[in-house]
Amino acid sequence: MQDRTLSWYDAVATLYDLGTLGDWFYRAARREAVDRLQLAAGEGVVDLFCGTGVDFPLLREAVGARGTVVGVDGSENMLRCAQRRAERNDARLMHADFSTDAGVRRLTEAMRRHEATAYLFTLGLTCLPGWRAFFRAVYDAALPGARFAIMDGYAERLTLGARFLNWIGAADVRRPVWDELEKRSTDFRKTTRRPLRVFDTDVLDASVVVASGRKPH
Ligand SMILES: C[S@@+](CC[C@H](N)C(=O)[O-])C[C@H]1O[C@@H](n2cnc3c(N)ncnc32)[C@H](O)[C@@H]1O
Repeated sequence: MQDRTLSWYDAVATLYDLGTLGDWFYRAARREAVDRLQLAAGEGVVDLFCGTGVDFPLLREAVGARGTVVGVDGSENMLRCAQRRAERNDARLMHADFSTDAGVRRLTEAMRRHEATAYLFTLGLTCLPGWRAFFRAVYDAALPGARFAIMDGYAERLTLGARFLNWIGAADVRRPVWDELEKRSTDFRKTTRRPLRVFDTDVLDASVVVASGRKPH
């Protein structure tokens, strides 16, 4: 049986881009996460939890025409909605449910096939209860020297904003999703934004975190 998070994304897929208001809330952090991958022309990058493909234009721009962009997601409907962006940005789409061993195997096989050197996780790890084991599996399968960037929501406590993000994203933003990368990587960096400040009030009372690091050679 399909996991509940994926059923949620299958149900909301056609509304996702509208609901995120053209990505205004995450746009700056997303750009920062892609920049941190320090992609060069011709490289292969995997966009995990790619959803409707919001990252694809930034990734294609960074790897140029000779590079490879692969988007992987577990929701058939999100992938269907990603189709147009995939065509425009020459990205390959792949279905894999990261909550299953078979899905993780499918992903790691594709990572080897495409000889990817960079991995982007935007707003995905907070959706996956087994995110630690999943991140470790991806990290272990990645080539030495591979770079990783994570952009996601975070709140230490279950604030009103955190409850909202959890509800809208079928997530748990109290997960410190950079933690496994921090333990293993070199050049680890983490920045935190409070994106919804109105005058001196932190309306959302939750952060957006961008973390990055490199697997040692
Ligand atoms: C909040 S969306 C993020 C989409 C995109 N990365 C973005 O930044 O707009 C979370 C995505 O994670 C995917 N996802 C959630 N659980 C998953 C799982 N078990 N396996 C694969 N993808 C999953 C959902 O289908 C959804 O597309």
